[in-house]
Amino acid sequence: MRLSLLFCAVLMLNFAGAARPSKPAPALPGRAGLIAPAKGAWLGMAIDYSKFGNSITNYEASFGRKPASHIIFMSFPLSDGEVQNVQGLMTQLGARKAIVILTLEPYGGLDLIDQNALSRLSTQLAAWEQLGVIGIIRFAHEMNGSWYPWAQKPTQYKAVWRNVAQVVKASTCKMTMLWAPNEGGGYPFSGGPYQLKCNQTQINEAGSDCAQLDNNKNGYVDQGDDMYSPYYPGDDVVDWVGLSVYHFGATYPWGANNVPEAGKFYNKITGTYNGAGGDQSNVPDFYDMFCRTRGKPMVIGETAALYNLCDKGGRGCGAGDPKPQELTLKGAWWRQVYATSATSDGPSISANFPMIKIINWFDIKKPEGEAEGNTVDWSVSTSTTIKTQYIKFVEQASTTWQWLPALQSQMAGLSCSSFQQASAVVAAAGSKPIKPRPGFSSPRRTKRSASFTPFPRPLRH
Ligand SMILES: *[C@@H]1O[C@H](CO)[C@@H](O)[C@H](O)[C@H]1NC(C)=O
Ligand SMILES: *[C@@H]1O[C@H](CO)[C@@H](O)[C@H](O)[C@H]1NC(C)=O
Repeated sequence: MRLSLLFCAVLMLNFAGAARPSKPAPALPGRAGLIAPAKGAWLGMAIDYSKFGNSITNYEASFGRKPASHIIFMSFPLSDGEVQNVQGLMTQLGARKAIVILTLEPYGGLDLIDQNALSRLSTQLAAWEQLGVIGIIRFAHEMNGSWYPWAQKPTQYKAVWRNVAQVVKASTCKMTMLWAPNEGGGYPFSGGPYQLKCNQTQINEAGSDCAQLDNNKNGYVDQGDDMYSPYYPGDDVVDWVGLSVYHFGATYPWGANNVPEAGKFYNKITGTYNGAGGDQSNVPDFYDMFCRTRGKPMVIGETAALYNLCDKGGRGCGAGDPKPQELTLKGAWWRQVYATSATSDGPSISANFPMIKIINWFDIKKPEGEAEGNTVDWSVSTSTTIKTQYIKFVEQASTTWQWLPALQSQMAGLSCSSFQQASAVVAAAGSKPIKPRPGFSSPRRTKRSASFTPFPRPLRH
C-alpha cells in the first residue's frame, strides 16, 4: 500500500502549508530544563525486562544501543513485593544515570493515595535518586480514558496529583512530574468500565466532575469537549506534558495490520486527524495548548504501530491474504515519529515540535485483548531486520535523536545543587513553588530481589 507519486506531492504541499513556522525551542525552566536535550529528543524504550533476565546490559547488548529513557510500571501505593522486584533494575538504571519514567498506577483507586502512601513514596524516591536514577514520575497516566480505575475523575485526580507532586519536589532534587493523558481521538471512550456517566442534574451542577468534563456546555460529555484541560492539575505542579500516541490500525475493531496514513502521528498531536479512524478534528491541539502556550516540554510516553503476528499472512501465522510486511508497516510509523523534514510520510516532527524532548517506543511483544488475544509485536528489537532499519533511520539524525551516552554527558556535571538553583530561578520568575514538607527524608534500604516478576501491563485502548 504505497502512496502514488502524485498523491505524495499533494500531501507534501499540504504539510508545508499546515506546518507552523518553526522557532527554536525556548529555554526550559526548572528541573526539566536540565534534563531535556538542547536539541531534539532522548530516545527511550518500554522494555519487557523479564525477557532479558532483568538485565539492562543484556537488553543493550541484544539491541545494540543504549536507550536514554526507560519506563517502569508500578502499582501505587507501592507494595513491598513490587519495590523489591524493581530494585535490581533501579540499581542498574541509576548506575547509568538513565531517565526512568516511573509510571505509578493507582489500581485500587485514588482514595488509597493517603498520607501513608505518600510518605512511603517519598522515602522510596529519595532512595532511588541516591542510586542515580533520574526519575520522571508519570502519575496516573491516560486519566482521560475509560479503562483505568483512576480515569475520568478530574476533581479528585487533580487534588491527588498535587499531593504527589509535592512529595516528588520535597523528597528529591532531580525528579519531575509528567502529566500524560491519552491522545484524544475517540473520547470519551464510551463503554469502558470507568467511563463517567452523567445525568442532566450532574451536568448542571456547577463544579461537578460532569460539569467540568462538559466544557463546551452542550449538556453532554462527548466528542466535542476538550478532553485534556479538565484534567490538567496546574502549571506549578507539572514539569512535562505527554501523550500516548499509538497507531492501532485503520479502523476499530483493531487487530488488522494496516500501514499508517501519512501524517497521522503529527495529526494526533495537533488534533487534526481525519482519516480512516474517523474525523477527530474536534480534538484540541495538544502541542499548542501545553507546549507553545504554557511552555511545557513534551514526552511521547509511549508510541508504536500495531503489528499482529496472527493477522492473516503475518509473520508466524501461516498463509493468508497478502498483508503489509512488518518493515513496511513499522517503518511507515517510525519515519513519521522521527521525521526531521517534511516527506511523503508526514511533516517534520523535530521542526514542528521542538519541545518534544523524550520519545519512548513501546518495544514489547505481547498478547492484546484489542487484537482478539493475538500476539502483537509492537517492538523494534525482536526482528534483526527491523532493528537494523530502525537504528539506521533514527541515527540519520543522530544530533536530533540521541541515545544514553549523550544524556550521560549532559548530566555529568550536574549536582543536586544545580537542580536546586534551577528550581529557585523558576520560583523567582513568579511560578508558584511548592513548599517542601518536613519529614520526608530518611531513605530506607530495600532488599535486592533474586527474582523478578514482570509488571502486568493492562490491556489498553
Ligand atoms: C483522552 O485523550 C485522548 C487524547 O486526546 C483521547 O484520544 C481520548 O479519547 C481521551 N480520553 C478520554 C476519556 O477523554
Ligand atoms: C443523577 O445521578 C445521581 C448520581 O447517581 C443521582 O443521585 C441522581 O438521583 C440522578 N438524578 C436524576 C434526575 O436522575
